[in-house]
Amino acid sequence: MGKAFFVNSGSEANDTQVKLVWYYNNALGRPNKKKFIARAKSYHGSTLIAASLSG
Ligand SMILES: Cc1ncc(COP(=O)(O)O)c(C=O)c1O
Repeated sequence: MGKAFFVNSGSEANDTQVKLVWYYNNALGRPNKKKFIARAKSYHGSTLIAASLSG
């Protein structure tokens, strides 16, 4: 929590979070760990990754 990553929207925030987790797992040698769980009928934004998380 010592750092902040500023973006312009909730969609970008969610995309950034997913990319950071992918990057983190790649860096730790876990390139196949890519799945996210999202609630049914949820809305996470309109960008590509955020929309793919939306139910
Ligand atoms: C839970 C949630 N995530 C993401 C978003 C997307 O935010 P934005 O419209 O700023 O891209 C929204 C917007 O309604 C939201 O409610």
